[in-house]
Amino acid sequence: MKPRVAVLISGGGSNMVKLLESMDGDHPAEPVLVLANSAGAGGLAKARALGVQSDFVDHKPYGKDREAFEDALIAKLDAVQADVICLAGFMRVLTSHFIDRYDGRMLNIHPSLLPKYKGLHTHARAIEAGDNEAGCTVHEVTAKLDDGPILAQARVPILETDSPETLAARVLIEEHRIYPQALRQFIHKL
Ligand code: GRF
Repeated sequence: MKPRVAVLISGGGSNMVKLLESMDGDHPAEPVLVLANSAGAGGLAKARALGVQSDFVDHKPYGKDREAFEDALIAKLDAVQADVICLAGFMRVLTSHFIDRYDGRMLNIHPSLLPKYKGLHTHARAIEAGDNEAGCTVHEVTAKLDDGPILAQARVPILETDSPETLAARVLIEEHRIYPQALRQFIHKL
């Protein structure tokens, strides 16, 4: 049986769409679930349109009880026997409770050239710092935020005229290119 991939999203899921589209017939893995942390995540409808089961666990009722929220996510992932987790624009911090369970089987895409600019507002920070390039990173997820073994990176120039938004749009194109490639290579090495 092919490894079963679940993709976690919070918003529009443009990276998720590219991952699902990449997992066609001759791909070594298959998509089994797109899971969001709110009912309103725009990516859920896109997943359904691509014929992949989609669901959500609203994080708000769990308040500060992150582990209870994560247990609800895990229940959904176990129900589809997910083997590999791809975080794709998933904006909730996951604790070691969740991460340890998927140790060595969870990837994330981060919109910076890690280890630079861990955390949020990566493009604004790169512009502010006067950097002449930015980019994105696919990495294995470990308990330390935006850390973990790097699987792929892509670089883009920062232009004098760039705003965080124009830079983000340029980086996103590269995210969409490297994430499917990195997932395919990762699956081959499983
Ligand atoms: C992207 O910048 C991605 O790097 C970050 O979330 C943003 C939105 O991603 N993790 P998507 O369109 O929801 O895939």
